[in-house]
Amino acid sequence: MPLIENTIRAGSEFDRKASDFSVLLEMLRDRHGRVLAGGGEKLRARHIERGKIPVRERIDHLVDPLSPFLELSALAAWDQYGNEVPSAGIVTGIGIVTGLPCMIIANDATVKGGSFFHETVKKHLRAQEIAEANKLPCIYLVDCGGAFLPEQDRVFPDRDHFGGTFFQQCRMSAAGLPQISAVFGGCTAGGAYIPALSDEVVMVRGTGRIHLGGPPIVKAAIKEVVDGETLGGAEMHTTVSGVSDYLAESELEAIAKVRDIVGALKWPREVRSPRPVGAPVHDPAEIPGIVGTDLKQPYDVRQVIARIVDGSQFQEFKPAYGSSLVCGFAAIHGEPVGILANNGVLFSESAVKGAHFIELCDQRRTPIVFLQNITGFMVGTEAERGGIAKHSAKLVYAVSNARVPRYTVIIGGSYGAGNYGMCGRGFQPRFLFAWPNARIATMSAEVAANVVTDLRRGSLTRGTADEEEIGRVDRETRAQFEAQSTPYYATSRLWDDGIIEPDQTRDVLGFCLSLASQEIELPGNRPVYRM
Ligand code: COA
Repeated sequence: MPLIENTIRAGSEFDRKASDFSVLLEMLRDRHGRVLAGGGEKLRARHIERGKIPVRERIDHLVDPLSPFLELSALAAWDQYGNEVPSAGIVTGIGIVTGLPCMIIANDATVKGGSFFHETVKKHLRAQEIAEANKLPCIYLVDCGGAFLPEQDRVFPDRDHFGGTFFQQCRMSAAGLPQISAVFGGCTAGGAYIPALSDEVVMVRGTGRIHLGGPPIVKAAIKEVVDGETLGGAEMHTTVSGVSDYLAESELEAIAKVRDIVGALKWPREVRSPRPVGAPVHDPAEIPGIVGTDLKQPYDVRQVIARIVDGSQFQEFKPAYGSSLVCGFAAIHGEPVGILANNGVLFSESAVKGAHFIELCDQRRTPIVFLQNITGFMVGTEAERGGIAKHSAKLVYAVSNARVPRYTVIIGGSYGAGNYGMCGRGFQPRFLFAWPNARIATMSAEVAANVVTDLRRGSLTRGTADEEEIGRVDRETRAQFEAQSTPYYATSRLWDDGIIEPDQTRDVLGFCLSLASQEIELPGNRPVYRM
């Protein structure tokens, strides 16, 4: 495969861009660091005093030593609820357990007792969706107070609310995906259903509890006064009710038991000889200096591709046509991929070239990676007369119907229908990550301010335009779009699977691609009912 030639020259412009980007990286690392503290020092100390292990350390004990753990949406709920719900109170991610990639879904009991906020439900559902799409066994580390009651209207009743997670558990069971729970703390109501709908359950003596209604609910409902241990303790559930299958004397014993259960799954993965992997010839650490933070400043996206793909080798498709969309074949960590990457606004030619390329990938069973940095499709009389609406629709059709796994990384702007044509969240890529310089919105703040003030000026019901009011609308629209288009606003609301650093892109994509390439046929349609 041809090598992408390095056209990046060291110098003041490169240094300035790298330095601007480093500010974004520092902010990202600081925020990631802050959410690791969970519910804060005091609650963490209480948690440990009770003999409980902090949530991310539980995961460390669960996964194979020195294996990767891909944490998802660590900044969910960021800057919401006064920042008191770090990571939305739940840690999700893919880890290797006894050699097998598994989805791990773990409540953080130091965050409001592990209860579910709107974003907690969304994150839990998303993790299940990823497990289902990539055929991963699912391990639940349960420590969960059910729905966060003050937010119950945003958590309980709707289709994709708490009930959806249990619906999903049942469907995943029927699809043949193993689901295993370890219960570490008080699990009430919804929290109780997670283990109750699992194939196998381990409970920790003394701290693990499962009850549909906790002691206060029991007292209120039937005036029975009972302590939590009698009502739903681990010993009772393992020896009397049968809600639990194994009793563990400590959390570490419970985690070891989960590893044994996973080890005994006889879960086949496709064994294949390793493909040759060559690191990129050009250094991934140079990406920030190529990209910078000014979305208006163009650069050649091939230089980014060269720092993501094996050996910096890229077989470009139709290089002399529709050049604002770069398409081509490469490999990432030995996994063959087709890449579509924006190199300017999308014209009709670029859109149909993209559609054609996606068809090629689909026929050749090659997964597709989208590198999104797009202001949108071309507008204007010439573009409309040239049929941009129908040509862009072809790209959207091809993206929607491709049968191969698709992966999206937002490496810059993600605006308007460009988001659709380049496989935005609505088009259900298997994973979607963003870089810290990303912006996602219908349009940029500047364009939005122009559109909205124009609409206000032209509004018949408002009479003559009042320039003072127009000025206010302009400022408000700008502020709204600026605030709502940051990657933190997006990741907080689970519009992506997390913000990653540019030089991690290759490893993250490689890990995700390897899950798909090892996929097996599931045994299929018989759920496991707990008896
Ligand atoms: N809704 C709202 N707040 C909840 C909650 C829930 N379901 N579960 C816990 N919290 C809050 C507590 O009020 C407390 O808030 P504060 O720090 O602002 O005072 C915080 O989470 C920690 O709870 P605490 O009881 O101190 O922690 P714990 O580790 O001793 O116990 C639980 C954890 C989950 C066992 C316990 O909080 C509990 O039983 N919660 C209620 C469960 C319930 O009835 N759920 C029904 C949902 S439908």
